[in-house]
Amino acid sequence: MARITASVYTSHVPAIGAAIDLGKTHEPYWQPLFAGYEFSKQWLREHTPDVVFLVYNDHATAFSLELIPTFAIGTAAEFPIADEGWGPRPVPPVIGHPELASHIAQSVIQEDFDLTIVNKMAVDHGLTVPLSLMCGQPQAWPFKVIPFAVNVVQYPVPSGRRCFQLGQAIRRAIESFDDDLNVQIWGTGGMSHQLQGPRAGLINKAWDNQFLDRLIDDPAALAEVPHIEYVREAGSEGIELVMWLIARGAMADVAGGPKPRVAHRFYHVPASNTAVGHLILENAA
Ligand code: DHB
Ligand code: FE
Repeated sequence: MARITASVYTSHVPAIGAAIDLGKTHEPYWQPLFAGYEFSKQWLREHTPDVVFLVYNDHATAFSLELIPTFAIGTAAEFPIADEGWGPRPVPPVIGHPELASHIAQSVIQEDFDLTIVNKMAVDHGLTVPLSLMCGQPQAWPFKVIPFAVNVVQYPVPSGRRCFQLGQAIRRAIESFDDDLNVQIWGTGGMSHQLQGPRAGLINKAWDNQFLDRLIDDPAALAEVPHIEYVREAGSEGIELVMWLIARGAMADVAGGPKPRVAHRFYHVPASNTAVGHLILENAA
C-alpha cells in the first residue's frame, strides 16, 4: 500500500530559482534564505520518497485565460520545464507517475472532486523552485512527481475549506493504491506578497507566523479562513497559501491519526517581494 510519510511546505519565488541558476546563493542578500534550507536538503536525502505529490500554481504558463482549471492533475510520464520568458530554467525534466496519478484522479473524482486531467503540461517556477530548494542541483530529480495545479491566479479561486477537504480525499486515494510507495505531499506558494497595485510589496510577518502556527496545530479552523482575509492580510498573491491546506489535509491526524512531528520550520523576509515560509511535517512511522 502507498503511504504519505511527510508533507513539505515552501514558497516558490522565481528570483530564488534565478539565484540558484546564476550561482548567487552565497551572496549576502541570498545567504540567509538558503541557510534555512540546508536542514531540508539533508532531511530529504535521508527521507527520499518514491513520489512527491506536488501542489503548486501555474502562472499563466501552461494555462491562460483561455482555459482555467480549478484543480488539474498531471498524469503524463514526463513534464517539460516551461520557458517563462528567459528560456527554460536549466533543471532536469520532471518525471511523472502516470499509474498513481490516474488512480488518484479516479478515486478523487469518484469522491466528487472534479479534477481536470492533464496529459501534456509544461511546469513553471511554481513547481521547479520548490524542487530546487529541497534538492539542490541534481542531474535528475531523485523521485517522481505528480504535478497538481491549483488556480489561485484568476478569480474565482477555490476556498481554503475546499482545499483542506480535497487533501483528505487525496490521502484516501493514495492509501488505496496497491504498490508499496513512499509518498510525500508538498504544498507550495505564499507567504504574504502582493506584486501589483498600491499595496505592492506588502509583507505581514505576524499574520504569516500565525498561519504557520495554525497550520501545525489547528488546520481545520485555519481552513475556515475566507479569501478576503488572505487578500487583506497577506496581499493579493498571499492567496497562494490555500494550496498548503491541500497538503495539510492529507496528513494522518486529520483522519484521526497521531499529530505530525515538526521536523523543520523557517521564515525569512525578504526574497524579492515575498515573505518565504517553510515547514516540514512528518507523519508517525
Ligand atoms: C514573485 C512571487 C511569486 O509567487 C511569483 O509567482 C512571482 C513573483 C516575487 O516575489 O517577485
Ligand atoms: Fe507565485
